[in-house]
Amino acid sequence: MKVLEELREQFLEAIGTCKTVDDVEAVKLRFLGRKGLLAEFRKNIDFKSLTPDERGAVGKNFNDLKNLFESKIDDVHKSFADSDKSAKLPEIDMTLPGSGHTIGGLHPVTLVQMELEQIFMGMGFYIESGFEVENEHYNFDALNTPSDHPAREMQDTYWLENGMLLRTQTSANQVRALEKFGVPLKAIFPGRCFRYETIDASHENTFYQLEGLVVDRNITIANLISVMKLLLNQVFHREVKTRLRPGYFPFVEPGFELDINCLICGGKGCRTCKNSGWLELLPCGIVHPNVLRFGNVDPGKWSGFAFGLGLTRLAMMKYGIPDIRLFNSGDIRVLDQFRATI
Ligand code: FA5
Repeated sequence: MKVLEELREQFLEAIGTCKTVDDVEAVKLRFLGRKGLLAEFRKNIDFKSLTPDERGAVGKNFNDLKNLFESKIDDVHKSFADSDKSAKLPEIDMTLPGSGHTIGGLHPVTLVQMELEQIFMGMGFYIESGFEVENEHYNFDALNTPSDHPAREMQDTYWLENGMLLRTQTSANQVRALEKFGVPLKAIFPGRCFRYETIDASHENTFYQLEGLVVDRNITIANLISVMKLLLNQVFHREVKTRLRPGYFPFVEPGFELDINCLICGGKGCRTCKNSGWLELLPCGIVHPNVLRFGNVDPGKWSGFAFGLGLTRLAMMKYGIPDIRLFNSGDIRVLDQFRATI
């Protein structure tokens, strides 16, 4: 139909000259508005004078034209929006020197933890991290340390108002794991612990431990010592001088303290080892029958060993860091030195 053909040409010419969003909106109003040219065409056409075939053809042409107007208007709007975005992109000069931004690195404690996880995975251990917010049962009671036990005094605890606590030791995972996995069991539990401690060069109130638990048939102290030695030799990539002495923990019997020769001073004595030449690193022992019972394991049939490695202290020894406070200090000069180690 001629009128519609003319409208089409007028529209294409008008939309082709639009330079701004406002121009497009004006064209839209002129052609598609309530009082626009298409609406006017429809109002004025005398449908009654047309045959049914002609009516159908006009209706189709009209709809095609309306669709064309709408899609062209959308296209032009979109092209304006795209060019607007590209206009806002900063220009990049690839020849400029770098801005000095660097990627971060892993914390030294994380590095040691990952190394230990590899060693233990190689020996077929599970890895679980447990919960930093624990209940009294798993942190103390199930570890053969009821509330009136003097050993509770050894670990000053942060209690929460709801009766829970911040775990003082990764040993809190022992009975949880026995309940969850049953026996035989070989698992390690690395994680953060919290104690209300006086802070000095080797004590923090927030530090990492790595607990280990093995329960099987006929486990003896010989198994315990061989795993501890293997672990230390692999971490330090050399033979490390150690000493084993009796240690008291209610959840092991017998219990030991495995100390390593201070690698900061080579055993001469310094503030890190409190001038003793030795650093308490790896308390351990044979799992107490009561702990097995708490984990629903029959101590008549099963035995095990457990250890609680001081992971933060191990990182100090491995990297020669003399003061534990540097780990949580957030001092980028300390952490920067480990970036290349990823
Ligand atoms: C324990 O926490 C026992 N749960 C370990 C254990 C596990 C014994 C299994 C027997 C069997 P202890 O309080 O000694 O023990 O802590 C273990 C290690 O965590 C210490 O040798 C030390 O390396 C580290 N550690 C303890 N307190 C701190 C602290 N405040 N800051 C940094 N490291 C600490």
